[in-house]
Amino acid sequence: LTPKDLQGKRVLVTAGPTWEPFDPVRFITNPSSGKMGFALAVEASRRGAHVDLVTGPTHLPDPPFLSTHRLKTAGEMDSVVRHLAADADVIVMSAAVSDYRPEEQAPQKMKKTDRDLTIRLVRTPDILAGVGAAKKPGQVVVGFAAETENLIENASEKLRKKNLDFIVANDLTQPGSGFRCDTNQVKILDSGGNVEALPCLSKEEVARRILDRIAGLVKKANHE
Ligand code: C5P
Repeated sequence: LTPKDLQGKRVLVTAGPTWEPFDPVRFITNPSSGKMGFALAVEASRRGAHVDLVTGPTHLPDPPFLSTHRLKTAGEMDSVVRHLAADADVIVMSAAVSDYRPEEQAPQKMKKTDRDLTIRLVRTPDILAGVGAAKKPGQVVVGFAAETENLIENASEKLRKKNLDFIVANDLTQPGSGFRCDTNQVKILDSGGNVEALPCLSKEEVARRILDRIAGLVKKANHE
């Protein structure tokens, strides 16, 4: 039986990739399916939370009993998250946000020529860093880190820099981990320097483990 340990709490979850267009039919993205974020949103809702799921383009249908906000670019995700974060008790950012976008967007489909093409990329806002910097007392903020090398070092640096309560790190070189899979093998690093290595689990089970921790932190914050 699912515990109703987030009853009445507002939970904001980001999911999926972003699309950064350079003309009306072409864009920069990554292979994120949105499965991890959708599993987190569904599990938070089962536990009684009011859930806002903010997602980039995915093939997954809107889950029942929660508010799904669909958008395309990192810039759009940034403004929706900023708007919703102010009232959220818990913020979980599992979206694979594009770090760069094309500087210019052509209004019409670009015609090919015989010459090579250079596209200049500029940074997108780091949405999670903004949320971490604006974190209110009692608010729980959780991030993800997908890495292909130095997993623990890179994840703990992000945990600290982005002012997170904990970070879920996955090693993209491991089989059964990360993008597109139905399973995930993650390590959870908390702000006290502890590391919990979970076995390879379904994304639904990973979501349960993450929400167990979040519910513990919410309970602690309410009693302080
Ligand atoms: O720094 P890096 O992109 O690896 O950090 C990953 C974490 O930051 C994830 O939780 C991701 O959702 C979030 N992020 C974000 N906005 C960005 C880039 C990453 O919210 N522009």
